Amino acid sequence: MDACPFDTLGSICRLSSRPLAQPGETKYDTSMGTDDHQCWIIRSGGPGDRDGLTAVRRDAVFAQCREHYTDEQMTLWTTPSDKRRAGAPQPSPILYIAEIEGYPIGFGAIQADGTWIRSLYIRGQYAGCGLGRELMEIMLRVSAEKDVPEVRLESSMNAVPFYRRFGFEVEEETLYPLSDTVSLPCARMVKRLRDRRPGDPE
Ligand SMILES: CC(C)(COP(=O)(O)OP(=O)(O)OC[C@H]1O[C@@H](n2cnc3c(N)ncnc32)[C@H](O)[C@@H]1OP(=O)(O)O)[C@@H](O)C(=O)NCCC(=O)NCCS
Repeated sequence: MDACPFDTLGSICRLSSRPLAQPGETKYDTSMGTDDHQCWIIRSGGPGDRDGLTAVRRDAVFAQCREHYTDEQMTLWTTPSDKRRAGAPQPSPILYIAEIEGYPIGFGAIQADGTWIRSLYIRGQYAGCGLGRELMEIMLRVSAEKDVPEVRLESSMNAVPFYRRFGFEVEEETLYPLSDTVSLPCARMVKRLRDRRPGDPE
């Protein structure tokens, strides 16, 4: 596994003045006021992380996307599907995984050429701690280092306001097919990084 190119260490305690969980759910113990600080680390990931990340994605979606999507949509969205993957061939992304003592709590994935952010999911219990921002900043650094004119992503409707905060604008509303009969309303978003030059890919 590649070493993470970014030396990143986040601390839940550092950010824990924000609400950490939905009402009625178990809250993460931030250990404020004690020395028992729990920190996340961010490392790069690979194919061996697939099962752990499927669990993170399922948790993130069912905890945070209910207002926008049905149970059927969320179930199909979070169930790995070889058929969907075969229909949309994509190069392997670079994966950044946040974990606490080996337990994955969130991840981001960006296409290796820096042009597309493919995934960003934070477990519901850890949402609002600044982890999504930290992963976005890492991935936007990848795009900047690749010197691409713009970076795109396909956002679920719940996350559009989050991505706007990072300078993304909606280009087009889209429907991501989940099965023969079910699809997921999404928004394709773009962030301009620099002026286009002759020779830039379309
Ligand atoms: C969207 C998501 C990735 C945000 O991650 P997070 O760790 O909760 O976000 P952060 O705590 O880093 O928030 C960073 C900033 O965005 C804001 N923010 C977070 N979620 C937001 C939302 N849904 N709408 C508007 N602002 C949001 C925070 O208030 C914070 O603002 P600040 O820096 O000015 O204080 C996370 O909620 C998630 O996993 N959602 C479910 C899965 C999903 O929809 N992923 C995107 C699929 S395309």
